[in-house]
Amino acid sequence: MRAWLLAGWFVIGGFGDPLWAEPDEVECGVETRGLDVQFVPTPQAVVDKMLSMAGIKEGDVLYDLGCGDGRIVVTAAGRYGIKAVGFDLDPRRVAESLANVKSNSVEHLVTIQQADVFAVDLTPASVVTLYLLPKLNVRLMPQLAKLKPGSRILSHDFDMKGAKPIEVQTMGVEGQGGDEEYDDIQHTIFKWIVPWEKEAAEKGR
Ligand SMILES: C[S@@+](CC[C@H](N)C(=O)[O-])C[C@H]1O[C@@H](n2cnc3c(N)ncnc32)[C@H](O)[C@@H]1O
Repeated sequence: MRAWLLAGWFVIGGFGDPLWAEPDEVECGVETRGLDVQFVPTPQAVVDKMLSMAGIKEGDVLYDLGCGDGRIVVTAAGRYGIKAVGFDLDPRRVAESLANVKSNSVEHLVTIQQADVFAVDLTPASVVTLYLLPKLNVRLMPQLAKLKPGSRILSHDFDMKGAKPIEVQTMGVEGQGGDEEYDDIQHTIFKWIVPWEKEAAEKGR
């Protein structure tokens, strides 16, 4: 919990920000399961940069793990014409994503599923996007390692200890409109290509 809170503060850059309140419990099928991370949207300018860094080509299939309001899958389908699947455990986010898909008329390309990302077979994807937490990225590594060689993984703000990124870019979104609460913070995007190079363990870790 402490790690999650610290990571939340790191992202938003301030203590007590309501955006990073305690994750909710949600009804998921028959069981109630806590979300691993609360919904905080990636600013649209950062979404655009992540997709540009992904080097998307015809035939790619993008999975967004924890899709929130669906902005990444909707942008991937609308701008690049590729198939995209968004997974989220929270039924409220699934409903928002479905509405977003419909209002952008990309139903023929985008699927939204209510699912726990740790139970999803990722192998049909060739591009995976993440905005979770560092420890969740690490927990996903066994699933991500099964992606086809050449698949790209893009993570907003969080690294994946043990996997050396092939590219890291930092950007601000000030003055780009729509997400003013993000104006004064920097966003980092990490990119890996499967199979990724192993990162040497730091001393004392
Ligand atoms: C920080 S938001 C990112 C939303 C979106 N990907 C974006 O970048 O705008 C993380 C999302 O993960 C979802 N989530 C948390 N734990 C999950 C889990 N175990 N399986 C699926 N989704 C989960 C939350 O409901 C939330 O919508």
